[in-house]
Amino acid sequence: MNKFTRFITVSALLTAGIALAQEPTAVNPNVEEAKTVIKTFSMQLKSELKAALEESPLKAIAVCKERAPAIATEVGNKTGWEVGRTTLKPRNTELNTPDAWERGVLTEFAKRHAAGEDIQTIAYGEVVTTDNGKAFRFMKAIPMVDICLACHGTEIAPEVVESLDKNYPQDQARGYQKDELRGAFSVSKPL
Ligand code: HEC
Repeated sequence: MNKFTRFITVSALLTAGIALAQEPTAVNPNVEEAKTVIKTFSMQLKSELKAALEESPLKAIAVCKERAPAIATEVGNKTGWEVGRTTLKPRNTELNTPDAWERGVLTEFAKRHAAGEDIQTIAYGEVVTTDNGKAFRFMKAIPMVDICLACHGTEIAPEVVESLDKNYPQDQARGYQKDELRGAFSVSKPL
């Protein structure tokens, strides 16, 4: 290869590379749908949580305990998606302990967060093969914000601690700081 052809080859590769980089990422309808399902679930839960917190944190614990799984089921029934939350440090170990796929994704999320990625943008979706055929699974990271600290932070009021101890003897979901990665929404839909 002489100097000139090498130049042409390199320029062609560079141009192709730039064209690829500029290609808009195709919109995946499953991802868009998954995000909408998660938004519906999280907004409903947050608004009920906020209303209950205005009365008392103890009332709000009941909301988290009873309403979080109930809203997940309601949204699931309406949309045909399976809806839930999971984390590497669960409070409700029975309901929210990650399965193998979720554990892998949560571990990746933790790495992405540690590498500086904004929790708001951390998400992952994949088509997986299950015993019942193919499904689309999607997870979206959940950040710790101020209102979460009353029940997941480092300084939890004694009556809240008492109630958490009673309801969740295996609780691992305390000691978080603001802006930490708390866990993720996890949704899936049969294809
Ligand atoms: C009033 C107390 C309270 C507040 C405030 C609160 N949580 Fe929780 N959280 C709980 C309880 C109780 C559970 C267990 C729910 C269950 O039994 O399914 C829980 C469970 C979770 C879970 C599911 C995984 C697990 O550990 O079982 C996530 C994720 C979570 N909380 C995130 C948050 C975030 C994010 C905020 C702030 C927006 C928040 N929580 C605010 C009490 C609270």
